[in-house]
Amino acid sequence: MAVRYELIKTCKQTGARLGKLHTPHGTIDTPIFMPVGTLATVKTMTPEELKEMEAQIILGNTYHLLLRPGHDLVAEAGGLHSFMNWDRAILTDSGGFQVFSLSNLRQIDEEGVSFRSHLSGEKLFISPEKAIEIQNALGADIIMAFDECAPYPADPEYVKPSMERTTRWAERCLKAHKRPHDQALFGIVQGGMYRELREQSARDITSLDFPGYAIGGLSVGEPHHLMYEVLDYTVPLLPANKPRYLMGVGSPDALIEGAIRGIDMFDCVLPTRIARNGTCMTSQGRLVIRNAKYARDFSPLDPNCDCYTCRNYTRAYIRHLIHCDEILGVRLTTYHNLHFLINMMKQVRQAIMDDRLGDFRDEFFARYGITET
Ligand code: GUN
Ligand code: ZN
Repeated sequence: MAVRYELIKTCKQTGARLGKLHTPHGTIDTPIFMPVGTLATVKTMTPEELKEMEAQIILGNTYHLLLRPGHDLVAEAGGLHSFMNWDRAILTDSGGFQVFSLSNLRQIDEEGVSFRSHLSGEKLFISPEKAIEIQNALGADIIMAFDECAPYPADPEYVKPSMERTTRWAERCLKAHKRPHDQALFGIVQGGMYRELREQSARDITSLDFPGYAIGGLSVGEPHHLMYEVLDYTVPLLPANKPRYLMGVGSPDALIEGAIRGIDMFDCVLPTRIARNGTCMTSQGRLVIRNAKYARDFSPLDPNCDCYTCRNYTRAYIRHLIHCDEILGVRLTTYHNLHFLINMMKQVRQAIMDDRLGDFRDEFFARYGITET
């Protein structure tokens, strides 16, 4: 077994889970937020900086690494950990999402997906077997089944066959997996926003005995309350002794609501992406540093944050850097945003330990400015 999930306790107020996920590259405290490092780098951050902010696991993307520099080259470097100098845990996504959001002229059939590279236009093909071969070569601790993430909105007539094909692909992924001893392959539940389809998918995917399960096809443009509804009826169908990963979710409110509904792992480009245009997550809500009102504001980004950025720099200085397109500006906002979510999840874990995650949510939302979910 490549990973082992250890349930420590559930929150008496909410049912949220506090746990540990043991991997070949260290133990991860759950619930956890995983920074995204699509191209074998969490944009602008060094591994030392990620460790300083206590990141425990990061993501890489099969689709992007296949295009550049190629999985063969990464394997030649000794795998992704050694290539990027990151000795903690890594999870790679299968490409089953990026190929739909990025590539052109894609065509899906039972065998797999043909598409053109969004960079070179070159014709490429990913099948479940190919997605696993690439991830076996990259060598992450956790790898993902090759799935289709249905768009939103989509009719049940589209979602049902797509979800059923995802299940058949999941079986092929399990068969193709060559490193089950040191890489945990997670299955992915799909089914759009339809209860019956989610239930069928959860039943079929969990019958396949993966070491962990993800919920995909959410945070694709639907209102938050719909996502929470899907979680309300889907999560209870997943086995309690294995980790549960909600893919592509990273807004502070959705992390807390997801944890309350029994999710253990989250990832999203949100904190790093918005940092690059100068938007910061703070305990008082989002702060757009380009705004003129910060020109002479010599206070830190977030008065309640003790990160490297907030201990050393002012809003006025960071605003100046971002205005002038100075690289340090986006490094400082990226550092702060990642620290903010990692630290928030630490507080979520403490609140579960203390059986008060419901109170924590109410207090957090009141300060962050979220009144409805
Ligand atoms: N990232 C966000 N959503 C998804 C999904 O549905 N599938 C995969 N593979 N990755 C995702
Ligand atoms: Zn900070």
